[in-house]
Amino acid sequence: MEPNIDWKNLSFNYIKTDYNVRVHYKDGQWGKLEVTSWDYIPLHMAATSLHYGQEAFEGMKAYRGKDGKVRIFRWQENAKRFRNSAKGILMPEVPEELFHEAVTTAVRLNERFVPPYGTGASLYIRPLLIGISPIVGVHPSHEYLFLVFVLPVGPYFKGGFKPQDFMIIRKYDRAAPLGTGNIKVGGNYAAGLRATEMAQSKGYANALFLDPKEKKYIDEAGPANFFAIKGDTYVTPKSQSILPSITNNSLQQLCKHLGYKVEQRPIPVEELAEFTEAGACGTAAVITPIGKIFDEETNKTYIYSKDGKPGKITTELYNTLTGIQWGDIEDPFGWVEIVD
Ligand code: PLP
Ligand code: COI
Repeated sequence: MEPNIDWKNLSFNYIKTDYNVRVHYKDGQWGKLEVTSWDYIPLHMAATSLHYGQEAFEGMKAYRGKDGKVRIFRWQENAKRFRNSAKGILMPEVPEELFHEAVTTAVRLNERFVPPYGTGASLYIRPLLIGISPIVGVHPSHEYLFLVFVLPVGPYFKGGFKPQDFMIIRKYDRAAPLGTGNIKVGGNYAAGLRATEMAQSKGYANALFLDPKEKKYIDEAGPANFFAIKGDTYVTPKSQSILPSITNNSLQQLCKHLGYKVEQRPIPVEELAEFTEAGACGTAAVITPIGKIFDEETNKTYIYSKDGKPGKITTELYNTLTGIQWGDIEDPFGWVEIVD
């Protein structure tokens, strides 16, 4: 039975689906996959995830194509990053096969929540790994819970493929230079809340973070990577404090395929004046064109869209990336897997 959901007007909010899947780690071993409809977890109040942030997560999407088939995108990369995140905060790594089994099981069991083709909505997949042992000293947990839940979502940024404005925030950092900015752990998002709130309270979609050490270079665009276009070159930050985005990596490969140059290097703030287009990219953000960037400190505004429309190369990249994800165009990279 089709759920009673207005697919075209979905935002990025929690919706309960039919099932989630869970696997426990105990005595040095992963257990068997369990399926449940309960969307709570029984958790000891002294669990390491609650007190010391021992938790990592991933973000992926499943897309329903014109042919009705459900596709997932580059899941191996998410599995790899999830293992890296686990390693970074001393949690056991979820083996690739187990990750795949959990993700595909969660998608299959909730197939009726995969939005119909043409609605622009998709099924967001959230793998999560948390320390569950009650330990009050600052030490890694002995036991862990790996779970995957899914929910249908629309665009993360309002309006979908429509320019959004960002504000450079210097007052708060999301990550330290040698901290955990390059892995996907909850602490980074907690640290970024004040910056996001600051930008949003001034009417911006999100914060544009600078490198935490010198505050000279562009780091990330809220919950997404930053890219810009200069002539026929795709430019994106190289920084040890940003999350290595799978979307960004895909765009770099697509650019080379489409005949554009790619530069991954530190981007000084002043260079913002030299770009013709700019965008934020990520699983939730997809490609969100940037309309303008405001720097309060210098009182400068960098404008990338005057007519409310995304730029030409940004649009070409969006159409190619989403075309592959939805199964509308050929996938020359082998990025897409059909879940059947
Ligand atoms: N940067 C941050 C801080 C994120 O939370 C995300 C989302 O996962 C990204 C970048 C984009 O990464 P990806 O393209 O792998 O979703
Ligand atoms: C994603 O793009 O999947 C993310 O995890 C971003 C987010 C924090 C909603």
